[in-house]
Amino acid sequence: MGTNRKISNKRAIVSIGLFILFILLIMSAIIIQVEENNPQSFGLHVWTAVHVVCGTVFMIFVIFHLVYNWKIFRNYLNRKNR
Ligand code: HEM
Repeated sequence: MGTNRKISNKRAIVSIGLFILFILLIMSAIIIQVEENNPQSFGLHVWTAVHVVCGTVFMIFVIFHLVYNWKIFRNYLNRKNR
């Protein structure tokens, strides 16, 4: 039981993380578009870094998200179970 509780905590952290990262990715993408008018701006540099880091962590979290939901995901892909 202790193990199950730990896994579901991680599962919740990954899902909430994905949601927050998704919002940050959209926000930083829009800010980058606006800041692009001024290529020398510090803001462009910072928001591009935020976008790249969030994108990388998002891809890692998607893998964990799929691992934690693997049985359900495999059932969706398996035609026999539809
Ligand atoms: C913004 C990105 C995403 C968010 C916020 C999100 C959120 C969630 C949440 C809250 C759940 C409920 C179970 C849990 O907490 O683990 C869930 C389930 C699931 N997610 Fe995601 N998810 C995202 C992206 C993805 C992606 C990219 C995939 C597949 C490539 C995916 C596949 C699944 C599957 C297979 C389940 C199980 C569905 C079920 O219970 O029937 N998710 N997701």
